[in-house]
Amino acid sequence: MRTIVCEQPNVFKLINEDIPLPKLGEAIVAIKRVGICGTDMHAFKGNQPFFNYPRVLGHELAGTIEWIGENPTGLKKGEQVSIIPYMHCGECIACRQGKTNCCTKMKVLGVHIDGGMREKISVPIDHLMKTEGLSLDQTAVIEPLSIGAHAVRRAGIQKGEFVLVIGAGPIGLGVMAFAQQEGARVIAMDINKERLEFCQQWTRAEFTINALENPLETLKVITSGDMPTIVFDATGNRKSMEESFRYPANGGKLIFVGLVKSEIVFSDPDFHSKELTLMSSRNANKEDFNHVIKSIQSGRIDVNAYITHRSDLEQMTGIFEEWLKPESNVVKAMVEL
Ligand SMILES: NC(=O)c1ccc[n+]([C@@H]2O[C@H](COP(=O)([O-])OP(=O)(O)OC[C@H]3O[C@@H](n4cnc5c(N)ncnc54)[C@H](O)[C@@H]3O)[C@@H](O)[C@H]2O)c1
Ligand SMILES: [Zn+2]
Ligand SMILES: [Zn+2]
Repeated sequence: MRTIVCEQPNVFKLINEDIPLPKLGEAIVAIKRVGICGTDMHAFKGNQPFFNYPRVLGHELAGTIEWIGENPTGLKKGEQVSIIPYMHCGECIACRQGKTNCCTKMKVLGVHIDGGMREKISVPIDHLMKTEGLSLDQTAVIEPLSIGAHAVRRAGIQKGEFVLVIGAGPIGLGVMAFAQQEGARVIAMDINKERLEFCQQWTRAEFTINALENPLETLKVITSGDMPTIVFDATGNRKSMEESFRYPANGGKLIFVGLVKSEIVFSDPDFHSKELTLMSSRNANKEDFNHVIKSIQSGRIDVNAYITHRSDLEQMTGIFEEWLKPESNVVKAMVEL
């Protein structure tokens, strides 16, 4: 079968591999779509500090079940599925509390272990989510959207609250969409005009703000001086994350969805005087996947517009560098098999 392996930074190679053999507790899935995200781009460029090569990338996966044994979930051959790529141990303190998304021994497909950029993959049956009635494209974006859904669930949004989302990339867009579903009045902030325009069309966010144009004052005007009660940072930018402590209202919450490999510095007196709640949000779990599936089924999420670029498996090795360029305006690139 055809597999694309990232041999070392900046090198993709199309190789021929044996098809996986059936394993107890696992199913073989024929991969039909692989969504590309920032993690894949950083891995390819060699900017992912603790990444090992060679590695088969791909963690945003849609496919159909090719082989499956007797199983308690009743899944059958031929059914269309999304794959939850976060391989958890099931035994650690986080897993025992149902927080499989932050397992102490977490191995993510396509990151810590080989992923789905290949024709077939063997995965544990309990990581499959049936996506009846959804298209393959819709199935492939469940994973990136579930990151936003999880962050929104952690935030516990109340209807009518002002919610600021900083960073209108594929992750922030998901946060905005699910915050809006909870009845929030969403304020989108970015430094990139194209991204803000896209976000206005896609999420119809009530307000968009350029982070370079005195955002503090604009936020005060929008919220009649109160400031947003919930702030998400989905930029992956240290400066933005440090600045973001200035934006929540007193008694508010700040949720870091984006992440950086560095320290974040903030003023304790400011943090304390506002009695802020600071949270991180990592990955997602089955509940979030189910929520995203239901939202897509109900037509509340426009998946077609979210997918901006496409290729097949062979073309991808040549076109990938193009997708890395900011001027290509990629939101979500999708590889079709
Ligand atoms: N929580 C998780 O489990 C999880 C999962 C996947 C990705 N992530 C992280 O989420 C973050 C966002 O991912 P993405 O794929 O959407 O990234 P992206 O780079 O496509 O989008 C980030 C956006 O933030 C904007 N931005 C950058 N600096 C800014 C600033 N100072 N002020 C305002 N806006 C700014 C950029 O213009 C861009 O539009 C990354 O850090 C990524 O690693 C987290
Ligand atoms: Zn991803
Ligand atoms: Zn665990």
